[in-house]
Amino acid sequence: MTSVSRRQALRSIAGTGLLWAGTGASRAQRDGGAPSDDALTVVPRPAEMAPTRAAYEITDETTIMFDGSGAFHVATALADLLRPATGFELPVDRPTGSGTDTISLTLDGAPPTLGDEGYRLGVTDSGVTIRAAEPAGLFWGVQTLRQLLPPSVEADSERAGPWTVPGVQIRDAPRFDYRGVHLDVARHFFDVDAVKQYIDYLAAYKINHFHMHLTDDQGWRLMIESWPRLATVGGGEGGYYTQAEFRDLVRYAADRSITLVPEIDVPGHTNAALASYGELNCDGQPTDLYTGTEVGFSSLCVDREETYEFFDDVIREVAALTPGPYVHIGGDEAEELSEAEYAQFMDRAVAIVQNYGKRPVGWYQVLNADPPESTVAQYWNPSRESSLLEAAADAGHELLMSPGSRAFLDIKYNEGTELGLSWPGFTSVRDAYTWDPGAYVDGVDESAVMGPEAPLWSETLETFDDVEFMLFPRLPAIAELGWSPADETDWSDFSERLAAQGPRWDILDVNFYRSPQVPWPGGERSGGI
Ligand code: ACM
Repeated sequence: MTSVSRRQALRSIAGTGLLWAGTGASRAQRDGGAPSDDALTVVPRPAEMAPTRAAYEITDETTIMFDGSGAFHVATALADLLRPATGFELPVDRPTGSGTDTISLTLDGAPPTLGDEGYRLGVTDSGVTIRAAEPAGLFWGVQTLRQLLPPSVEADSERAGPWTVPGVQIRDAPRFDYRGVHLDVARHFFDVDAVKQYIDYLAAYKINHFHMHLTDDQGWRLMIESWPRLATVGGGEGGYYTQAEFRDLVRYAADRSITLVPEIDVPGHTNAALASYGELNCDGQPTDLYTGTEVGFSSLCVDREETYEFFDDVIREVAALTPGPYVHIGGDEAEELSEAEYAQFMDRAVAIVQNYGKRPVGWYQVLNADPPESTVAQYWNPSRESSLLEAAADAGHELLMSPGSRAFLDIKYNEGTELGLSWPGFTSVRDAYTWDPGAYVDGVDESAVMGPEAPLWSETLETFDDVEFMLFPRLPAIAELGWSPADETDWSDFSERLAAQGPRWDILDVNFYRSPQVPWPGGERSGGI
């Protein structure tokens, strides 16, 4: 890391009165030098982080202690993470006498200022303590601890240690409450195991919302028991999730502090539904299944009552499957409808979502229908000017920020990228990092922004290797914009911490794009993008 980032780290701790007497700072002064933060390559960058001269080595004597019942599953997750590579037993236990040789996860005594997701992490010579007010905070603290350990900790079989955690005191909490990543499983279907792997990637970078784009022209991917042909016909050759599989995904995400946000895209992007049931079409005839990549040509028939019976049934089942507060109803690119027809449909669609106790989310075109203030609008236009968004913010809507030229993970890195689309231009890793979700659209104040979300559309992505190539390394860029304080987001510092993730992805066998913008270990920077 650069000396600038080291100075920033120490300054931010000193500025909040968080100097630890008797630990690194004072010893460092006696020794005539600041402790090194070279090993502190955590992404997203913690809000406050100060290196100390302490160090703790995890050994076969180490115990993982937890207190508070919500801490048990996090302690188990940590043990599951550390056991394969270390080969240690790492028993998970309630606090016992000595308190030494422990990694301690505690929900006791956390200051309320840490919020629901914040945590403190401290390393001494005898152990590590992570303290949080809620299990989510502990879980994010565990992800930080993971990155403090050598990359080989990611291995699924025993590796040589030592498993040393460098001395550090961290106080961390996210900038935004909503940090999202999306996956389009409609254009290409990804099975349950692949989606779980995807969720694991999000969790490692403290993403807390996973938006699943479950339906589109090319496929309907969730079994709806009251309209089964949506999946059995509309799933085409790709397939669909049974409700049991979908519940499993919801639970898998929740175990990782991630809320699943299901999207049923209406009234456009609906060819798969229109092919499954003739009565959703104005002429009563089912369409043909479609596997091309055009958009804007399909629409539910807004004048038929069957359309609303269908949507009510779908949302009832989706709401029952997902405990999170949001249901996303798309609303983008409904180009077959007039403004009046669009509003006629959306008025009822939004009311149906609310009727099932959920908060509607829509792509920002939903604002054209003047939905109630509780409706969240997701911006995806690359433009920094939007009178629609400005007016929505003024009217009290909360907004998600997914500008197509910065946050869309399916956009090509450069002209040489084989996968992906390029409608907003190219999005290098640096482009994905150097924007501010709280100040992207002129006239929209950060107070209206729930957070950033990075969509990953799958028109060109056929395999999970393809998905990984577009996700990495831009996922950590968006994750850091969502988590870290705005004044701590510095490209040069980030690119060095990002580079340190490379060996982890190599061990995890992640097919990542080795962008020449990033100083990967052992590689030369070539000045490209
Ligand atoms: C979108 O990219 N149509 C939301």
